[in-house]
Amino acid sequence: MFVITGATGNVGSELVRILAAEGAGERATAVSRRAPEAALPEGVRHHRADLAEPQSLRPALAGATGGALFLLVAGEDPRAVLDLAAEAGVRRVVLLSSQGVGTRPEQYAHPAAFEEAVRRSGLEWTVLRSGGLDSNAFAWAESIRTHRTAAAPFGDVGLPTVDPADVAEVAAAVLRGSGHAGRTYELTGPALVTPRERAAAIAGAIGEPVRFVEQSPEEARAQMLTFMPEPAVEGTLSILGTPIAAERAVSPAVEQILGRPPHPFTTWATRMAPAFR
Ligand SMILES: NC(=O)c1ccc[n+]([C@@H]2O[C@H](COP(=O)([O-])OP(=O)(O)OC[C@H]3O[C@@H](n4cnc5c(N)ncnc54)[C@H](OP(=O)(O)O)[C@@H]3O)[C@@H](O)[C@H]2O)c1
Repeated sequence: MFVITGATGNVGSELVRILAAEGAGERATAVSRRAPEAALPEGVRHHRADLAEPQSLRPALAGATGGALFLLVAGEDPRAVLDLAAEAGVRRVVLLSSQGVGTRPEQYAHPAAFEEAVRRSGLEWTVLRSGGLDSNAFAWAESIRTHRTAAAPFGDVGLPTVDPADVAEVAAAVLRGSGHAGRTYELTGPALVTPRERAAAIAGAIGEPVRFVEQSPEEARAQMLTFMPEPAVEGTLSILGTPIAAERAVSPAVEQILGRPPHPFTTWATRMAPAFR
């Protein structure tokens, strides 16, 4: 039995799809606060629960004896969630954390606390520290659809962003496989890609020019504060603008775990082209 939190998100929806395609759909429980907008793969059950209210997860965890939990950083009390999982007989937990926990611990204290709780949970654990996701480019979906423009700060600073489908495939491998207990993996894409290059890749995918507009850091901060808490905004902006060497490094983990290199940004852009047309 697999309990997948964040199951309607960029990573979680792919993870549910992969588990179902591998024949584990009937043993997968998808968890999110809202009902899914798109149909879930056949056999997958959905439970509404909020990680900010750990007790709401109880029904989703029922029957998960011997199973595995894919846990998102959400809510404030990971220990309560993990205690419930242990009580339900869950054997393994895979946490989706952030690369920033390793590179900027002061700004990533929240996911760091989840990592600590997972390591102390008594469950078999693996931590996936994701770099920036390719799907952050969805922030451009409306402006590209309506004006064929994409605005971002630090247009020429490259980062090895990672396809959420690759993160999901790694998560599936770790949830189902062996040899990953007690490991912390950094997940990145295969190469540095700048925001300007990401906009050009989306232009290529939709077959239309897209104008890149360089934002000032202040403009970007004001925009990000509308949907992100302040420490996360500061951490993200400093990674986007002045990444340290470890944040620009391509991690070997995706290839080591999947036996193939991670997908380039163009793969994500091509797959998601309809969202930008
Ligand atoms: N974006 C990045 O660059 C980045 C980098 C490193 C790590 N990460 C981590 O990766 C995670 C997943 O990214 P994503 O792009 O897949 O996220 P996403 O597309 O925003 O999806 C988040 C998912 O989690 C659910 N969710 C959110 N809060 C919840 C809560 N309190 N209780 C239960 N479910 C909740 C959402 O559904 P409902 O809203 O219906 O609950 C949705 O299914 C992020 O949360 C972040 O911690 C992201």
